[in-house]
Amino acid sequence: MKTLRLKANKEGIETSARIIRDGGLVAVPTETVYGLAASALLPESVKRIFEVKGRPQDNPLIVHLPSPKEIEKYVSDVPPLAAKAIKAFMPGPFTAVLPKNGVIPDVTTAGLQSVAVRCPSSPVMHALLEAAGAPVAAPSANLSGKPSPTRFSHCVKDLDGRVDAILDGGECAVGVESTVVSFLGDKAVICRPGAVTKEMLIEVLGEENVVSASEKETEKPVSPGMKYRHYSPSVPVYTVEGAGAAEYIKERASREKGIAVIGFSEHKELFSGLSFYDFGSESKPSEQAARLFAILREIDEKEKDFSLVLCETPSEKGEGEAVRNRLFRAASHKRVTTGDRPAVIGVTGRSGAGKSAVSKAAAEAFGYRHIDCDALANDIIWNFPPLCERVKKEFSVSTKKELSKLVFEDGKALERLDFLVLPVIISELDNLLFGLSREGVKGAVAEGATLIESGFAARCDKLIAVSASEKEAVKRITERDGITEEAAKKRLSGQKPDGFYARAADAAIVNDGSLEEAVAAFKRAAKI
Ligand code: TXA
Ligand code: MG
Repeated sequence: MKTLRLKANKEGIETSARIIRDGGLVAVPTETVYGLAASALLPESVKRIFEVKGRPQDNPLIVHLPSPKEIEKYVSDVPPLAAKAIKAFMPGPFTAVLPKNGVIPDVTTAGLQSVAVRCPSSPVMHALLEAAGAPVAAPSANLSGKPSPTRFSHCVKDLDGRVDAILDGGECAVGVESTVVSFLGDKAVICRPGAVTKEMLIEVLGEENVVSASEKETEKPVSPGMKYRHYSPSVPVYTVEGAGAAEYIKERASREKGIAVIGFSEHKELFSGLSFYDFGSESKPSEQAARLFAILREIDEKEKDFSLVLCETPSEKGEGEAVRNRLFRAASHKRVTTGDRPAVIGVTGRSGAGKSAVSKAAAEAFGYRHIDCDALANDIIWNFPPLCERVKKEFSVSTKKELSKLVFEDGKALERLDFLVLPVIISELDNLLFGLSREGVKGAVAEGATLIESGFAARCDKLIAVSASEKEAVKRITERDGITEEAAKKRLSGQKPDGFYARAADAAIVNDGSLEEAVAAFKRAAKI
């Protein structure tokens, strides 16, 4: 279908209102984010919203009204706490969940007995709602799972050709979606934090009357939207927090390939020369809110160039809570905490050298923790959805076996896989190490085939290369992997020679005899 592009003048607003009255769909600007609007009273139109967005059927829509006075037409009750909050925060970036009467159809509220109502303060949206003369259902105008649109161009990207019109109202001032508060129980429950902050709600309603959904609900979410993956960019995101977080980001982004940095304006100098995206001032969460989704979308536009986004973590004060909520969800709650870490001895070498056996035995002998980096890598590729989806899509594979075959045969593919995966693995390892130091573990033996290539060797206090004679290595590989001698030899010949590992390491040991001998040599080499 052809999508009209309308200006937010009188004519554009009237055209939009007419399309909505006639059952069409229009992407519209509000003060929070762009919404995908249709008449809340027309079930067929509302169904189309779900279809166009690819939104799960059980996730209800917010009903937008021109004025708080309209609310009583669609609800069966406005409890006193709700009345106070409505008076204080509407119009504005605030949504109230109230018991519904029979007027709004079930599709709009996904079959719930409640309805979410909101009166936007944006003059364009207000004028549109007045002109439409009907309550307007409008979820954020992104395709389901993607960051919400805060600019006209974002809507064009997601919805051109799929909706009747897009109304250009420039950039959204707030940048994160409205605060959703449920008034169905005896307290006000914050289902989704936003620019109307918890502190603001407490000031109006009293501390004893306000709770956050995450503190209260465990298994059944109060708001269906809470359970879905959201704001997921194509490039995986890790948030970084703790002592020296900015320096940590700088160090990694300078050394590794493909890292996009989202950092505070105050660190602009520190991050100069890197792929830096200015998150706004550290002390101004409203700036961060206004920029976050646009930055994530901008990075996605250059998806091919980036393997990972490292983002500084906003404080949780005030609107910061809303920014953190969206950011943590964009990052699938993946984070690196910086600070103390235990001593790390890296162990690397060719297949069949007996890295694993030696590393495990050495870790046990020293009271260190053993880390199998290859297992960790495998785990993250297949169990971290953003990475897994990316790998499957880029290489058109769906199983481990297919991927191994592909990268074994094609050096370029292996290079690309390393590009996509290594920075994620390093983040996981760094976070793991921080966790160990918190547990009081004094050291770790991290073993992996590609410690040097991955750059992880650079974060080890000592790197030990383990080798074995060709004969011993072939014997171990045939026994372990059940392949022929010939296949084992072929595999070894495809790998880097022992000298490569020995040259890069601080010390090299030979593991041809007993495990005790190897551990003793390890101990001497590591100077423990
Ligand atoms: O700022 C906003 O709220 C934007 C603009 C366009 O108004 N809209 C928006 O809508 O963010 P949407 O659909 O992306 O998010 C609505 C959220 C979802 O998490 C949904 O589960 C929740 O509100 N919600 C809607 N009706 C509800 C209800 N009856 N009970 C609990 N949660 C509800
Ligand atoms: Mg949404």
